[in-house]
Amino acid sequence: MATLATRPAASHPPRIETDPFTDEVLENPYPFHEALREAGPVARLTAYDIYAVGRYDEVRTVLSDHERFMARAGTGLYDLRKPGAWRPASPLLETDPPVHTKTRTTLTRIISPVVVRGWRAGFQKAADAIVEEILDRREFDAVPDVAEAFVLTAFPKSLGVDMPRENAVAVGDMNFNAIGPQNERFRKSVERVEPILDWYQKSFQRESMKPGGFGESIYEAEDRGELAEGSAGPHVRSFIRGGMDTTIAGIGFTLNQLARDPGQWAAVHAEPARMKGAFEEAIRHESPAQTQFRTVVADTELGGCALEKDTKVAIFMGAANRDPRKWDDPDRFDINRVTAGVHLAFGAGDHLCIGQTIARLEAEVVLSALARRIRTIELAGEPTYRLINTLRTLGTLPLRVTPA
Ligand code: HEM
Repeated sequence: MATLATRPAASHPPRIETDPFTDEVLENPYPFHEALREAGPVARLTAYDIYAVGRYDEVRTVLSDHERFMARAGTGLYDLRKPGAWRPASPLLETDPPVHTKTRTTLTRIISPVVVRGWRAGFQKAADAIVEEILDRREFDAVPDVAEAFVLTAFPKSLGVDMPRENAVAVGDMNFNAIGPQNERFRKSVERVEPILDWYQKSFQRESMKPGGFGESIYEAEDRGELAEGSAGPHVRSFIRGGMDTTIAGIGFTLNQLARDPGQWAAVHAEPARMKGAFEEAIRHESPAQTQFRTVVADTELGGCALEKDTKVAIFMGAANRDPRKWDDPDRFDINRVTAGVHLAFGAGDHLCIGQTIARLEAEVVLSALARRIRTIELAGEPTYRLINTLRTLGTLPLRVTPA
């Protein structure tokens, strides 16, 4: 048995020089992910002087162990406790227990499974209209015409906000760039949002909430004292931020993979309920939320590596979801794989995605409507990616279909 005297001293994590936020890496992050996993359980990212984890076990640990890896210093690259922090902390994601637990309980009740199930008929109506439209055309771009068209109708309606497409895309780009470094890509996305900043600020205020949406319920919970004073607006903003681009990306990835594999499309066409599993596998295979951050609370050890307090840890969920230590043949998209509850696309631990029931319902409704009505599907051109610091998503997905 190892005693304190004989236990090997924790080592310094190996250094990685690559900047993971360049166009080259964002275009195809998988070689970087492999290098990160192979470097060791933890690496030092010299470009930002922070730690990074990409193996499944360490990613799960950092996301789940709030005593050692805190969210309250910000879940982006920058430490929000430091002077000059350029934005306030999110009142849900950027808190730790016990503060987080109380807020999360209230918000979970507001979007309970019973509430979310009540939205199904509205989602179905929106999906059916989209399917009719694309079946008429036979050739279409599934990013704007299916994924965005559906999510930007279904989700803002449930929340009770107005969300014009161009504004939603610009705001989404900025939010997911802002989690990463303040590089050129981030600065350009801020410039694109400047003309609509007034609209954006107003979009989550009380007077903008439509009656019956869950945004209104969040303001009512604040009135009852169940949420901190002044926090309802920032909560609504978090739902706008977290809720749309990720789901759009996941729907796009599912269609991209199925359009490349006639056998797997035939399986979902025969049994549209299998789209649930296809969506889970798609967000394992290409994870929309690629990178989040935590901060080391006190000097500690992870995977035999010594970690210094107050240092940021970049968590690469996309790398963990293709870790060969966890998954057989991880680069292969396979709808038979059982991934729900195992993959880390929705995170893990206290902050496990609070909107996952909503994302799953949206995906199931629109994807199974497509599976029922489309006999064959194929790419009508090579898809492209929209490069964003911490979100992986398609920019275009040209498809050709034949109706059932
Ligand atoms: C495929 C779709 C989605 C993906 C991949 C996704 C991913 C994630 C991930 C990885 C986290 C954890 C972040 C962390 O621990 O740092 C998270 C948390 C969160 N998500 Fe999602 N999400 C999705 C859909 C949604 C939807 C539809 C909503 C809104 C209804 C939403 C709202 C949130 C919020 C508010 C949090 C913070 C939860 C907390 O701190 O307790 N997400 N999501």
